[in-house]
Amino acid sequence: MAVFFYFIVTLLGALGAWLYTPVKHYVAVFGIQPFESLANIHGVETRFIPDTIACEDLEYHVPSGMLYTACVGDLEIARNWNPGADALVHPDKKAWGSIVVIDPKASNTLKSQKLSLENFEGPLATHGIGLYSAPSDPNVVYIYAINHLPNPKYARSSETEEKAASQVELFVHTVGSDKAQHLRSITHPLVRTPNDLLAISENEFLVTNDHYYREGMMRTVEKLISGFHGWTDLIHLRFDDNRVDAAVALDKIPGNNGLGWGPDQQVIVGDALGGHVYFASLPGPENRTMTISHYHPIDCVVDNANFFVDPFAGIDGKDYSGYLMPGLYGAFQFISGFGDPKFKAPIPGQVWYLPAIAGKDKQFDGTKHRKLIFADDGHTIRSVTTAVLVAIDPKTNSDKREGWLFVTSVIGASMLATKIDFETALA
Ligand SMILES: *[C@@H]1O[C@H](CO)[C@@H](O)[C@H](O)[C@H]1NC(C)=O
Repeated sequence: MAVFFYFIVTLLGALGAWLYTPVKHYVAVFGIQPFESLANIHGVETRFIPDTIACEDLEYHVPSGMLYTACVGDLEIARNWNPGADALVHPDKKAWGSIVVIDPKASNTLKSQKLSLENFEGPLATHGIGLYSAPSDPNVVYIYAINHLPNPKYARSSETEEKAASQVELFVHTVGSDKAQHLRSITHPLVRTPNDLLAISENEFLVTNDHYYREGMMRTVEKLISGFHGWTDLIHLRFDDNRVDAAVALDKIPGNNGLGWGPDQQVIVGDALGGHVYFASLPGPENRTMTISHYHPIDCVVDNANFFVDPFAGIDGKDYSGYLMPGLYGAFQFISGFGDPKFKAPIPGQVWYLPAIAGKDKQFDGTKHRKLIFADDGHTIRSVTTAVLVAIDPKTNSDKREGWLFVTSVIGASMLATKIDFETALA
């Protein structure tokens, strides 16, 4: 693999003088900057949350103010079985992952609570999740979760069967309870290599396929050129007791990855190896093709991008609402470090911020205004996959405008929370 990357370095080097900015962008995204190390940018105070091992995604449930994540819960299992990271050692040890709830307001004693999953036997090899609550019933949370099940039909001699048979699980949970009930599993041939979900209702969601090929030579080729051209897509699914109806909603983004809600039903899509954040519309009931409004380049592997709503903007007239783009700083370090049996190989990560206007105004110069608000060389947290910002009420915080940035990692030993000063970091 390294040979390919150094070939690309040479190629990009030759184009360098002529194409400086785009080259710098892809050098950062691929992680082919062998002599440059990433300087850490952490908040004013950093904490680790117990029992949050290998949690890829994180969602903020606005009505309850709680955070939800899905965790593999075991690093040895996580490093051997993650179709999204090319870790496809066929699992003898299955993943018994969990859905975990964190109360971000209890910041002095950050704890995680594992939900007991009723009516569900598992295994659960977690990845992205999506939450939905009806406006009329905000305490009932529908939780969609990707489950990378091993394919029971796979055999070593098999040429046609894939190793993974990934599907989507749907649970329902009441805010404050310690359990979630499994409602059903959802499978469809268009859901091949699912990465993240956006829940539209209790029977409708979007899901990204982050690759076309699951493994092998074509997967390598796909990865190398996927910053420029991709085979990934975004699927729209709706279902009832009798059928699952799916359609390709978007296939124009090279590296479809994380999904999030922006203001006014805007869909945010992270373009991983392309290093962009895209803004799109929801599929219509008849025409299910989504329309892309515009996008901004971000110099990292953009993963689970999302929108931070500043609930205290009214207090001092300063609205810090904006987009968060978390991701790996260098795909190569991820590919080479993911499987480290000692769980030590550093996997650098970053979190970028763009003000809310960037999602509305197509002329807005995102490259000029984007801000790097968190960076880690991969020692404090091994990879960054999601970051969610939760504002602290200034009334309880000596009038200071601050917030906790929760950062998760697909192969990390724990999630971290770091306190961000809005005036310094976001303004
Ligand atoms: C469906 O919507 C897409 C995106 O807006 C558009 O390009 C396409 O022409 C539409 N198709 C039909 C049949 O109206």
